[in-house]
Amino acid sequence: MSSILFDNITIITMEDSCRVIENGFVSTRGSRIDYVGQKRPQGDFDVIIDGRNKVLMPGLINTHSHLAMTLLRGYADDMNLQDWLYNKIFPFEDKLTAGDITEGSRIGIDEMLAGGTTCFSDMYFFQAETGRVAADKGIRAVLSDCVNFDGYDKKVRLMEQMAEEFKSNDLIRFTFSPHAIYTCSFELLKKCGEYAKNHNMPIHTHLAETQKEFDDCMAEHGMTPTEYMESTGIFENPAIAAHCVVMTENDIEILKRHNVSVAHNPMSNLKLASGVAPVPEMLKAGINVALGTDGASSNNSLDMFEEMKAAALVHKGVTRNPTVMDAFTVLKMATISGAKALGYDDLGALKSGWLADMIVLDFDKPHLKPLHNVMSSVVYSAKCSDVEYTVVNGKIVYKR
Ligand code: NI
Repeated sequence: MSSILFDNITIITMEDSCRVIENGFVSTRGSRIDYVGQKRPQGDFDVIIDGRNKVLMPGLINTHSHLAMTLLRGYADDMNLQDWLYNKIFPFEDKLTAGDITEGSRIGIDEMLAGGTTCFSDMYFFQAETGRVAADKGIRAVLSDCVNFDGYDKKVRLMEQMAEEFKSNDLIRFTFSPHAIYTCSFELLKKCGEYAKNHNMPIHTHLAETQKEFDDCMAEHGMTPTEYMESTGIFENPAIAAHCVVMTENDIEILKRHNVSVAHNPMSNLKLASGVAPVPEMLKAGINVALGTDGASSNNSLDMFEEMKAAALVHKGVTRNPTVMDAFTVLKMATISGAKALGYDDLGALKSGWLADMIVLDFDKPHLKPLHNVMSSVVYSAKCSDVEYTVVNGKIVYKR
């Protein structure tokens, strides 16, 4: 079994406490973490990484992406969501081929690994292509071929082929993804919920992204998007709802009651001027809130460090309360809460026996000096270009 020793390094464990270990040691055996602590573990290691001036932390988890939209990076900016989606994005996507998705996925996965993202949850088309690139590059992926309009039967077929193709790959899992309430009928949403239940798959969908979606849903159904989604029965499944920007108090209660996880995408919501999700209220209600970048056409990057900083800052600004989202809360969203949202109970923190997905940051940089509080430095000062190693499943998959 291959093994790595991180030697004499500063460790952000992301356990329930805000534990930071200075001059500590972490070792891996195979795909798992073998040891985390202050004593140098005995034995031989295939790789020893010198930890001086370096920080080790769990890999970042991007819970909402449309990876191959890297191809549309910079293609349509400074537009509102409906105009952007219907006049620019959907017509472009209609022309995408499987080969395009392979290329877009390659760009996206290279960007993510170099930026410290070790796991992503994707919703797009030709997902088997994305799966093949993910398997080749060694990143952990949760995939779903997005269902919209009348594509149900075809998507079920594709999902089943994918499940078969990747059944022996322990890095790849699946969700079932109806796109949104405005691109799927009530019947279709219901069918997706039933399929997910019968196949023991979580749901991944967009929810309450804009005021227009909210107003249209109220006018058409007399319900909020969250109430409407609940009425389809889809929340009987474990679910990840991306965005959740326009929410009532009752909507927040619905998500909590059904244990729905939220993928918060602050950069995309700001860029498309959709607004700011009530994340402090959702966290207060006990909802599991994770982070996502959304597609690279509405962000315009897959940089989880930027996403963390945006999440920390935007809620302070909106609430005029600097204590509302501290660095530890944001780091949790980007790591262990993301893992939980994707159904993992052994990922997202550095603990003995858990999956060995982790990153090393080079802190020997002017913008990271001096070091008073390592969690603050990661959220407020670090950049994705500070990532020196990215490790997934105990393998070094990126080295700067
Ligand atoms: Ni999205």
